[in-house]
Amino acid sequence: MSADTSPDQAPSAKFYVKDTCAVSFVKGVLEGNGVPSQNAQIIANALVLADLRGVDTHGINRIPSYMARIRQGVLDPLASPTVTKITPVVAQVDGHNSFGFLGAQLGMETAIQMAWEFGIGMVSVKHSNHFGMSAWIVQQAIDADMMSLVFTNSSPALPVWGGKEKLLGVSPIACGAPGGEGGKPFILDMAPSVAARGKIYKAYRRGEKIPLDWALDGEGEKTDDPGKALEGVMLPMGGPKGSALSIMMDVFSGVFSGSAFAGHVTNPYDPSKPADVGHFLLAIKPDLFMDLGSFRERMQYLYERVVGSKKMKGVERIYFPGEIEQLTHVDRMMSGIPYVEAEIEALNKEAALVGSEKIEILG
Ligand SMILES: NC(=O)c1ccc[n+]([C@@H]2O[C@H](COP(=O)([O-])OP(=O)(O)OC[C@H]3O[C@@H](n4cnc5c(N)ncnc54)[C@H](O)[C@@H]3O)[C@@H](O)[C@H]2O)c1
Repeated sequence: MSADTSPDQAPSAKFYVKDTCAVSFVKGVLEGNGVPSQNAQIIANALVLADLRGVDTHGINRIPSYMARIRQGVLDPLASPTVTKITPVVAQVDGHNSFGFLGAQLGMETAIQMAWEFGIGMVSVKHSNHFGMSAWIVQQAIDADMMSLVFTNSSPALPVWGGKEKLLGVSPIACGAPGGEGGKPFILDMAPSVAARGKIYKAYRRGEKIPLDWALDGEGEKTDDPGKALEGVMLPMGGPKGSALSIMMDVFSGVFSGSAFAGHVTNPYDPSKPADVGHFLLAIKPDLFMDLGSFRERMQYLYERVVGSKKMKGVERIYFPGEIEQLTHVDRMMSGIPYVEAEIEALNKEAALVGSEKIEILG
């Protein structure tokens, strides 16, 4: 155990877990809950990739809430998504209430196949669930040398601009492009709120405070208490612009696909009914207008121009979108992924429920 084990151990004391151990732990819990092995592998890889990239809000700590949905009968562990071709470059995936990771993975795989042949592939995913961190689907496209757009809608957490009730999702907008030869890809993955709601859940789990500009409590007052923030609303980034981006995610992912929309996607912590999330995925071949080598050279030039830009006072380094997460990924592959004690306990409780192996701590 590499954590601080002093008697007055801080709530944020860290326990480190190797990524491969985290994957086999998650796979064990999923299989114990009835998820077929091949599907469990896809889900485990995506969740652990989030933790490796430092997006801890959307990593394996989501397992207890996902397993609760299986136990409540509102997420089908046995289901697998199916795909229907609509045109040579358009397909629709029906998630059949399976894990969102599966519909998104199949959807992007299908979009990539179409883009290889025709330059572009568009997939709409319906009747799906939460798919965690969007960047893992962007990465799936980058691994195939593709540019991508990855949209999803999500349960209400934000007011519309001028409103005071939760109506819009904190639905992330994500896109990516392969980088220069040996260089950094472009990966934008951002929620349209000041902060992702998962960051509030994480602070709540860890007994930490949140910045005052993230959310309002149930009375509409600013709060640094994550528990009170969860009773209130998240604040959109950039006022009406964040609100408009969230509506855009709902148009493309919800209205267009045939899934729930306009505030009707079910919260992942609400056991009353399936989530019915929709996604929108687009893969684009980057060498449509020039060869791939030239595209990569131009991406490398863009990267160097961005990170080499003159820095404002107090800034030590400028990063390309996605670069901080890639650096964290490299670090965590070496040091392991840090979790706090309460998180390890919650995860092991899930393992105990199905008799799968406990999580192995580095020590
Ligand atoms: N599936 C869902 O329903 C859902 C809902 C909300 C959020 N999420 C996930 O939550 C995660 C966190 O979202 P977020 O909005 O809090 O992300 P964030 O604010 O941490 O990062 C947003 C983007 O800004 C870039 N960035 C951050 N700091 C930077 C810096 N100093 N220099 C250059 N670029 C920088 C990041 O690389 C990223 O692309 C995302 O992975 C998102 O997919 C998922």
